Amino acid sequence: VTEPLLQPHELVLLRDALRGFTPDAVLEVLGPVGQAGLDRGDLLLAARELPCDDATATLTRLFLLGDEVPLDEARAVLGGLSPQEVPALLQGTEDGVRSRLEIRPYAEALRDEDSETTSWLVVSDWGSDVAGAPLAADHVLGIGSASLTLAQYTIRDHAQRALDVGTGCGVQALHLARHSAHVTATDVSSRALRMAATTAALSGQSWDLRQGSLLEPVAGERFDLVVANPPFVVSSGLTTDSGGYDYRDSGLAGDELCRRLVTSLPRVITDGGVAQLLANWVITATRSWDERLSEWIDAQRCDAWVWQREVADPAQYVSLWLRDAGEQPGTARWRRRYDEWLTWMSSAGVVAVGMGAITLWNNGSDSPVRVLEDVPQAVQQPIGGAVAQWLPRQHYLQRTSDAELLHAALRTAPGVVRTRHDLIEDGGWQTALSNLRLSDGMRWEVETDDAVSSMLAACDGSTPLNVTLQVLAASVDAPVDQVTDALLPVVRDLVSRGFLLP
Ligand SMILES: C[S@@+](CC[C@H](N)C(=O)[O-])C[C@H]1O[C@@H](n2cnc3c(N)ncnc32)[C@H](O)[C@@H]1O
Repeated sequence: VTEPLLQPHELVLLRDALRGFTPDAVLEVLGPVGQAGLDRGDLLLAARELPCDDATATLTRLFLLGDEVPLDEARAVLGGLSPQEVPALLQGTEDGVRSRLEIRPYAEALRDEDSETTSWLVVSDWGSDVAGAPLAADHVLGIGSASLTLAQYTIRDHAQRALDVGTGCGVQALHLARHSAHVTATDVSSRALRMAATTAALSGQSWDLRQGSLLEPVAGERFDLVVANPPFVVSSGLTTDSGGYDYRDSGLAGDELCRRLVTSLPRVITDGGVAQLLANWVITATRSWDERLSEWIDAQRCDAWVWQREVADPAQYVSLWLRDAGEQPGTARWRRRYDEWLTWMSSAGVVAVGMGAITLWNNGSDSPVRVLEDVPQAVQQPIGGAVAQWLPRQHYLQRTSDAELLHAALRTAPGVVRTRHDLIEDGGWQTALSNLRLSDGMRWEVETDDAVSSMLAACDGSTPLNVTLQVLAASVDAPVDQVTDALLPVVRDLVSRGFLLP
């Protein structure tokens, strides 16, 4: 059993003291300027915006800015707790008290206007902007942009059993508990697990916490939903003893950790269950990203949708992750790590690193759906609902022959927008480029032409597709067969992307 960092009675006192410490209350004391400063790590700006003589401002200084606070002021807002009583949390300093840990009020982005917002408290180590130095090897990450990406990408259907692999501060588990009857969360790091236990206790939740690597702690068990924001960083296989970090380095070289997860996750998902993870992958001169990922996925019987969101060249990638750990360009340490990392990248034939997200559905199908595609656009967040709606459309396309599709009365999705770019040619405006865009959800943008956009305008959910195509063929004076052959693949693509709904 993993114990929280504080004793039960200390947790009760702290929870009570932090009752009003919510994202809304913090925004109120910081104001929009201070909040923007906090969000982008400009803690000095945030501190300047805080009022004096305000309990939430004191809590913000202590637990979000890492500032020193006079002892009396701290005791007054912490129900009398002092460094002597809670040395794991508070540290006495010459002039007062500091918190050893960040405690961040956090609320789920509203899924719909009716759902009730619950505010949680997330415990983690301080980031390098507070520590003023590179992170420690056993650093437990707070809520970062990857955490939010995964939280927004997760399908929030009810689950009986949910699993968070590599829970860290516990942010994913908090979300899972909102729609799952039972939450299990794992981590290799015992420190991370104690932080997660503290996050759960302060947020009024309870999870089954287990220590171990990847899926070892849940061997033989199955879950309806598995999420993982794993230590996916592509490196030489650094460990905490060789310059790596628990939060991002697995000790496995290249993208081996992601390969192992993708190939083993299907074994722990129930029939009809789903696994969603963030991942990075190696791109070499001889193998494209989707060939590599297909190899991992083809051995499974799962339906899979893989998004490549971004691609970074080795130097961009290495700089990104050195900065992430608080390393400073220009120092000898930066130079050494940068050189070693890039030298390894080149010896391993890494020409770029792909970064993305993977959803695997366990449907036991003999001909599973496999789509691997670039998704560079800014999708509408939270996107999890659109991810869930994607699979039924793929199954529809799989089981519907072209003849059946022609008899279907498809409906154009609400919010489809056409944009046209015109050029002057022969003394008049001619359409040079025409695009269709989904204004919601995946926000796909595809090139189109007049025939396709006329067809979409006619897809009202009551007219069979073949009738629409006959009218279209007559209007352009072309044989129906020719129009049908040209447009059927386009229709399939538009259904797949959600422009056309079955
Ligand atoms: C990027 S952090 C993610 C934390 C949190 N789940 C989130 O979404 O912000 C990765 C976590 O995985 C843990 N971890 C590292 N190697 C692991 C392994 N082999 N098995 C399980 N967890 C691991 C780290 O300790 C860290 O807490």
